[in-house]
Amino acid sequence: SNPELQNLYEAHTWLTKLYHHLLRHTKEGKDGYELLKQRGLTDETIDEFQLGFAPNSKDFTKKFLENKGFHPQSMVKGGLLSYNESGQYGDRFRGRVIFPIRNHQGKTVAFAGRSVNGNDPKYLNSPETDLFHKGKILYNFDLARAEIRKRGEVVLFEGQMDVISAYQAGIKNGIATLGTSITDAQAKLIRRYVERVIICYDSDDAGIEASYKAANALKQAGCEVRVATVRDGKDPDEYIHQFGSESFQQQVLDASATYMGFMIQYLKRGYNLQHEGDRITYIEKVLDEISKMDKPLERDHYVREVAADNNLSVEVLEKEIIDRRKKQG
Ligand code: CTP
Ligand code: MN
Ligand code: MN
Ligand code: MN
Ligand code: MN
Repeated sequence: SNPELQNLYEAHTWLTKLYHHLLRHTKEGKDGYELLKQRGLTDETIDEFQLGFAPNSKDFTKKFLENKGFHPQSMVKGGLLSYNESGQYGDRFRGRVIFPIRNHQGKTVAFAGRSVNGNDPKYLNSPETDLFHKGKILYNFDLARAEIRKRGEVVLFEGQMDVISAYQAGIKNGIATLGTSITDAQAKLIRRYVERVIICYDSDDAGIEASYKAANALKQAGCEVRVATVRDGKDPDEYIHQFGSESFQQQVLDASATYMGFMIQYLKRGYNLQHEGDRITYIEKVLDEISKMDKPLERDHYVREVAADNNLSVEVLEKEIIDRRKKQG
């Protein structure tokens, strides 16, 4: 195989081990270890995910890699070192908890580094490299794959911490995209393995918008989509920490909405349904969605729900649906 790629894999493997060792067994990694402990992670989980700490140093990683015979230039290209304006090579990840990003075969191909002291940005990720194409990778897919098959279902989270907390709580079929919203390539990849997807993003505005986009992309790829809502402005990690895994399974995952159930709520956003104009625009949008549904039984179910919600007659709504479906051909 390609020696340059091989070289880059090896550098990632070395740094995964180094950073993990520093976090677990040295005082240099104490800040990182304490943050993860405070977040409720066990040593076992920290080890399984190979979580680590990159020391707050200009050149610790640089020297380590040089000693191993890696060329700084190729390490910059691989996203492991940085190169500053004054012509110096130096550490890219400094004073950050390190989440190794594993590819679907379980090899580290990138890192996400979380600051421990509130420094911006909260997360610093590896750039796109020859090993790492973030729009094609699903975080934790390697560990989750067997459980995804077994449950016939995957849970899509927003962040690595959500995946890891859920995993520790026994929900081992969780994956995440890395910061960006889901790509068509990722949606197709998911569909190749499993039909049912529960989107479980943060309950803030950004999370709801991202849920809407992910729901559409996954639906487009042929998935049966459900959307979970984590109440009280929390994210899944915080929810599990506060209420435990059983509550998370029952109150969040099992209580997830169907695609249309979510859409009916989502489409209300930005409208004042007391105003007739707004109300009609909203209903038109909901009808657009319902008319796209394949199963007559499902369409009937939602037509009745919308009719009841808005005090309209089922007959009128059915007629609207028929008109729309004629136009769709
Ligand atoms: N993210 C990122 N860059 C940022 C902020 C977020 O890449 N500056 C990505 C990370 O992958 C992160 C995910 O988006 O895991 C979700 O963001 P957020 O909800 O802010 O992070 P959490 O995972 O909740 O972070 P934490 O619990 O560690 O505070
Ligand atoms: Mn160890
Ligand atoms: Mn978020
Ligand atoms: Mn979050
Ligand atoms: Mn969080």
